[in-house]
Amino acid sequence: MPRLMIVVASVRPGRVGLPIAEWVLGEVEKRGDFEIDFADLAEIGLPFMDEPNHPWLRQYTQEHTVRWSERVDAADAFIFVTPEYNHSFSPALKNALDFLSQEWWRKPVGFVSYGGISAGSRGVNAIDNVILALGLVKTGASVEIPFAGKQVQDGRFASEERQATILAGVIAELLTLAVALTPLR
Ligand SMILES: Cc1cc2nc3c(=O)[nH]c(=O)nc-3n(C[C@H](O)[C@H](O)[C@H](O)COP(=O)(O)O)c2cc1C
Repeated sequence: MPRLMIVVASVRPGRVGLPIAEWVLGEVEKRGDFEIDFADLAEIGLPFMDEPNHPWLRQYTQEHTVRWSERVDAADAFIFVTPEYNHSFSPALKNALDFLSQEWWRKPVGFVSYGGISAGSRGVNAIDNVILALGLVKTGASVEIPFAGKQVQDGRFASEERQATILAGVIAELLTLAVALTPLR
């Protein structure tokens, strides 16, 4: 079975991102298409990028980078669950992306974004150039959740039917792309 990494991109205390990512986890588990790695960037705790060499060389000097590299290398597809901060995406996610290079190459990524009225869509637009540079391939559809905090109660995200339907489409497309892109890596 291909392996999907769900990345929790928000690291703030009290973040809405964790319950949303837990909802995503439950939906992926229900479908049973992927092995899952739940990668909570708050738990992983990478420092600001502190490698002396360009990541393309894979000459990592830090134990945390080696661990992160092995984990991303093992993934065949990703879902980034990211908030919008100041019309962009989570800085913790940018940092986690920058640490590595070839590990992302020609792998598919889907987005679950959230924020205010724009539902995190400006954040996803802002990450487009970054994922292009890293060779990630974005799904056609993205889950966009406006005012996501309103859907979180007692630490649980209550999805709307439309959001679950779009997420199912994203997961299905990730599976197709994960298989199709394998020979290109
Ligand atoms: C520093 C900061 C900047 C934000 N900027 C935006 C923004 O530009 N657009 C938006 O729609 N929401 C913005 N928000 C609202 C967040 O998207 C919203 O609070 C969301 O719940 C944050 O995700 P988190 O709780 O997982 O960290 C901002 C929140 C913070 C903390």
